[in-house]
Amino acid sequence: MPFVITDPCIGTKDSACVDVCPVDCIHPRKDEPEFTEASMLYIHPDECIDCGACVPACPVAAIYDSVDSTPASQKSLVEANAVFRAGDAGAVAKAEEIVKGHMASHPDLMAVAPTERAAAHAK
Ligand code: F3S
Ligand code: F3S
Repeated sequence: MPFVITDPCIGTKDSACVDVCPVDCIHPRKDEPEFTEASMLYIHPDECIDCGACVPACPVAAIYDSVDSTPASQKSLVEANAVFRAGDAGAVAKAEEIVKGHMASHPDLMAVAPTERAAAHAK
């Protein structure tokens, strides 16, 4: 089961996860053209090897260790992680559309500072 990045990454994009991922499956990296416009980063589910290195690296606890452990409020972002592909404009737009939908559906979470959002997922 792949790891999943969720909404504390929105507006944070710390990228510490990118630096520790041994298989370079988290995108967009800071050196990729999509980084500036992307609302968050994504884990490619087919490339993730479930090593767990990214979880403690994230300062806002945005990463869950499986689809099953991803809270209900974050489920739409599972698909965003799955569809994003750096270099594929259509896939980038689709992922961004899902994220925008998530933000519109969860004004409560978006009103919380990114550092507090993971704690709010369980409520
Ligand atoms: Fe990469 Fe391991 Fe996370 S493969 S995405 S650092 S679980
Ligand atoms: Fe986002 Fe956390 Fe990585 S904020 S970019 S998931 S380190």
